[in-house]
Amino acid sequence: MVQPTLTEVKFSNGAKIPVELHKVRVVQKLHLKPVDERLAAMAAGGYNTFQLNTRDIFLDMLTDSGTNAMSDNQVSSMLHADDAYAGSQSFYRMEKAVQHVFGKKWVLPVHQGRAAENIISQAFISKGHVIPMNYHFTTTMAHMELNGGKVFEIYTDEALKIKSDNQFKGNIDINKLQALIDQYGPERIPFIRMEASTNLIGGQPFSIQNMREVRAIADKYGIMVVLDASLIGENAWFIKKREEEFKNQSIHDILLTMCDLAQLVYFSSRKVSSTRGGGIATNDESIFLKMRDLVVLYEGFTTYGGISVREIEAMAVGLYETMDETVISQSPSFIEYTVNELDSLGVPVIMPAGALGCHIDARGFLPHLPQSEYPAGALAAALFIVSGIRGMERGTISSVRDENGNDILADVELLRLAFPRRVFTLSQTMFVIDRVHWLYKNRELIGGLRFVDEPKVLRFFNGKLEPTSDWPQKLVAKFKEDFGNSL
Ligand code: F0G
Repeated sequence: MVQPTLTEVKFSNGAKIPVELHKVRVVQKLHLKPVDERLAAMAAGGYNTFQLNTRDIFLDMLTDSGTNAMSDNQVSSMLHADDAYAGSQSFYRMEKAVQHVFGKKWVLPVHQGRAAENIISQAFISKGHVIPMNYHFTTTMAHMELNGGKVFEIYTDEALKIKSDNQFKGNIDINKLQALIDQYGPERIPFIRMEASTNLIGGQPFSIQNMREVRAIADKYGIMVVLDASLIGENAWFIKKREEEFKNQSIHDILLTMCDLAQLVYFSSRKVSSTRGGGIATNDESIFLKMRDLVVLYEGFTTYGGISVREIEAMAVGLYETMDETVISQSPSFIEYTVNELDSLGVPVIMPAGALGCHIDARGFLPHLPQSEYPAGALAAALFIVSGIRGMERGTISSVRDENGNDILADVELLRLAFPRRVFTLSQTMFVIDRVHWLYKNRELIGGLRFVDEPKVLRFFNGKLEPTSDWPQKLVAKFKEDFGNSL
C-alpha cells in the first residue's frame, strides 16, 4: 500500500507559497470603504470589532466560527434533509459520520459548541470541583464557573512565549497535572480537558504523546479525559507534520487515535465541519445517559439538538471532509505564510504559526500602552480603521474583573486575524500583510481604549469603549498622507 504523504505543492524556485487546492464557484461581493467611513463605523461600534456591521468590513477575520467556506458536496447535501422532530434520517447520517470520523458510538447534537459546554458542565461539574486543562476558552470557563467549578491552566513554560521553536505549545505540563491531583485529590476533579489547537494562546496544537501521558495519569486516578475537538482537524494536521511517529499515518488514523484517548469528545460544528451546530460523543453509555436528558431540556430532541436538519446534513459531509488534508491544511498554510512574512518584516507574531489565525502580539507591537489600556483592543480598532480588516481582540478585554473590580490582566495580549477555511485569496492575504506592516511602522500613533459600557458577563462581545485621546483621527491623517485617495 502507498503510504499517505503530506499534501504540499512546491515551487521550483523554492518559494513557500500556499496554493489553493480548490476553486471558487460561489462568491460574495466585498466593500472596501474610504478611511473616513471606516473611522465613523469603528466609533459607532464603540471601538469593539464585534459591534461592526459587515456592510462596513472588507476582510472579515473576526473568526472562523460559522465563516468557513462550505464545499459543493456540503451545499448539495442540504437538499435531501429530512424534516422530522424525532428520528430524522439527517441525524442518523450525522451520527454515522461522527462514529466513522471520531470513532465514538453515542452522539448528541447541540446547537453550537458552548451548548455542549453547558450540558457537560451541568452534568459533571459541581461546587468545589477543579478542572485542569491546557488552556481555557472563554465560553468554556464561563460555563464551568457558573456550575461552581474552577479552571486550572497547566500549560508548559513554552506555551505563552510569543516566539518559540516548540512545536506543541498546546501540551499539558504533566508535572503540574500531577501536582494538581496531589493538591486537590482526584475526587474533586471531574475531568481533564484538552483543547485541540488551543485557541486563546495562538491556535497551538498538542501532541499525541502528551495526550497519552495525560490519559495514563487520568487512568491511574480514574479521572475522565474530555477533548474539545472544535479545531481537531488542524491539530491532526500539525501532528502529521510535526510528530515523527505519525508522519506516515492518515489524518483519519490520527483523528481516531486522538479521540480514542478521550472518554468524551465535544465540538463546535461552526468550526470543525464548516457548518452550524455542535455535538457531544462518547463510547460510554453511562456518560451519554448523564447528558441525554439535558439535551432535550436545553437544545431540543436528541435527533436535532436545536440545529436545522439542513445544517445537520452538511455537518455530516463536513465531518468526513475533516479527513481530507487539502481541507484542513488550507487555513494553517495561509497562516504560516502570513506569520513568516510578518516576522520577516519585524512584526511580533506568535510562532510557530498555529491554527485558526495569525496572532499578533499587541504588547510587542504597542510597548508604549499599558495592559490597562487594552493594547490588543486598540490594535484591532486601529487595523480596522486603516484597512477595513476586522480582527478579534484576545487579551484583557476578553478577560474578566476580580472581586475588587480590577481587570485580571490577560496572560497574552493578542490581535487574532482568523483565516476561515478556503475563504481568502493570496492577494487578500498580501493586503493584510501590507496594512499590518504599515500600521507597525506607524505604531506610535496608536493610543489606548477605556470602557464606557461594560457588560458583566463576556464583556468583550457587547461592551463599548472609547479612545483615551484623539489618536484615531491622527492615524487617519497619516493614512491619507501616505495613501492619498487609495482605499
Ligand atoms: N471551544 C473552542 C475551542 C472554541 O474555539 C469555541 C468557539 C467554542 C468551544 C465554542 O463554540 O462558538 O460554537 O459556541 N470559538 C469561536 C472563536 C467563537 O471565534 O474562536 P461555539
